[in-house]
Amino acid sequence: MTSNANSSHTSNTNAAKQTYPTLPNHRPENNPSNIQTQHSEGWGQFSENFNWDAAHQELAASAPESHCITETINKGAFCVDHHPEAIQKKTALIWVNKIGETHRFTFNDLRKTSNQLANGLAQLGIQPQERVFVYLDRVPELYTSILGILKTGAIAGPLFSAFGPEAILDRLKTSEATTIITSPSLKPRLDSVRKELPHLKHVIVVDSDHDPIQGNLGAGEYPYREWIQKYDSEFEAHRTGPEDGSVMHFTSGTTGKPKGALHRHKALISQRATAKYILDLQPDDIYWCTADPGWVTGTAYGIFGPWSLGITQLVYEGGFNADTWYQLIQEHHVNVWYTAPTAIRMLMKAGLDCPKKYDLTSLRHLCSVGEPLNPEAIQWGLQAFDLPFHDTWWQTETGSMHIVNQPGLAIKPGSMGKPFPGVTAAILDSEWNPLPTGEEGHLAIRPEAPSLFKTYWNQPEKYNSKFKNGWYLTGDRAMKDSEGYFWFIGRDDDVINTAGHLVGPFEVESALVEHPAVAEAAVIGKPDPERMEIIKAFISLAEGHQASDELIEEIRLFVRHRLAAHAYPRELDILDSLPKTRSGKIMRRLLKARELGLPEGDTSTLED
Ligand code: WT7
Repeated sequence: MTSNANSSHTSNTNAAKQTYPTLPNHRPENNPSNIQTQHSEGWGQFSENFNWDAAHQELAASAPESHCITETINKGAFCVDHHPEAIQKKTALIWVNKIGETHRFTFNDLRKTSNQLANGLAQLGIQPQERVFVYLDRVPELYTSILGILKTGAIAGPLFSAFGPEAILDRLKTSEATTIITSPSLKPRLDSVRKELPHLKHVIVVDSDHDPIQGNLGAGEYPYREWIQKYDSEFEAHRTGPEDGSVMHFTSGTTGKPKGALHRHKALISQRATAKYILDLQPDDIYWCTADPGWVTGTAYGIFGPWSLGITQLVYEGGFNADTWYQLIQEHHVNVWYTAPTAIRMLMKAGLDCPKKYDLTSLRHLCSVGEPLNPEAIQWGLQAFDLPFHDTWWQTETGSMHIVNQPGLAIKPGSMGKPFPGVTAAILDSEWNPLPTGEEGHLAIRPEAPSLFKTYWNQPEKYNSKFKNGWYLTGDRAMKDSEGYFWFIGRDDDVINTAGHLVGPFEVESALVEHPAVAEAAVIGKPDPERMEIIKAFISLAEGHQASDELIEEIRLFVRHRLAAHAYPRELDILDSLPKTRSGKIMRRLLKARELGLPEGDTSTLED
């Protein structure tokens, strides 16, 4: 076993003991020195006159050919169909594959390929607002498929290629997807749950020389390379309305399986404005967003924001490696870089000598999202790149950056920054009324931005529960200082943030109890210096099973393969029984307090 799992299966009651590595520093008083930054061009005028209606009008006026008026907007078409000729000829995508080969695609290439797919989908009879999912590695077809799906008026659902059968089953079932675009190597995971997916009619298999189709395809299955050839590369995009569903991303909550957060086509208004003013994208920039489109960052800022502005993007199919990443920045002259604190902490681990081996002077602007950005990471960025990382806060549900360190705003290391123009944020008490400056409470947003989610698919009660007193409740705790900067404090619920991925404990617990040896399971987030939190599971065994290191490893791998490579328990303890309330609810908070050596709080409802 090579992982750093704690495989001790002894009871863990007197365990513990790691203090939280990041947050104590996330306080204004600990971070007195602000970092001055430069304004992007036009910011002053933009922020003073900003309102969402005007932003919508401006978007429509920027592409008269797009039929984008206040009644019609198609985000897929907007990104690739309506740029002037000079941009059509420009590189939209610099794609570096897993083995380091580079391929370039112009905006016109993406326009034509996505049109072919749109024609193919139309031929299959895909209707507007039908759910079409994409389950691929970061290959060019992932990007063109999302654009093509949107052009037909259907809803695009990107799935991480790291997902196992259990994770894709839940998502395809909940969304009642009729079509999925996947690859030969990922298809077996789909096949293993296919019989439980009566709605799924069509499977398009993106074959390549590196990943050819083995054996025969079944009924309703199409080999992408051959199939797409039949279709014309011109297509008139469906005239979707601004309120129509566009992209569905799944997100986790405390209870129940992940929910399908649906965005609208008009989310483009927010995504484009923030890409322009917060990522500070300039026409000739080479931009690199390290996020996968299975995550909202990878669509909002890895597709829509940048391509709607006609910006060239780098996409790297491979995973994290410090030298490879620096090499990519050097070779492709990356100017703007959007990444995550976990990645920055891994770069920090590789040391300051590592970036010094490369010419990274093309970099002009750095941004971060997904977890609290440690002040140390900002200081390190200044040493390594001579630039500060700008933290941005948002969520799957908000659909675009909401609290930001915009260029020109002095950075207070450890703070998330200030609300984007057009965004009103507040800290609320438990009756959902605003608290005075400096007090900690629930972070809430006025539901005004066009990118705010439209619904949780088929779960209106869960959607409604997120709104109180005219506020959208984010599920985060935060505070606002006297200068209007927001400071992240933590999640308000049991949702785990591991390396920027939100994982609901329920989903992991459900996968655990499917293993025959597991009777009960409870899952918590345990603070971790690199990943922010890791998933820690506590289980009790079913009759007739004996605790052993081998069994622990088997159960961990079982969840890893069934659910996802990033959502399995890195640590797993076997207990005789799990603490429960008298009504039988497992007390995750108590397990967490014990694990961290914190006070156990009110245990009066404990079973015995
Ligand atoms: C949750 C949203 C928007 C794409 C990222 C993931 C945490 C996000 C920050 C930040 C502290 C952050 C919050 C938030 N989070 N950005 N800058 N500082 N925490 O989207 O998977 O929906 O996760 O990630 O807890 O609620 P997501």
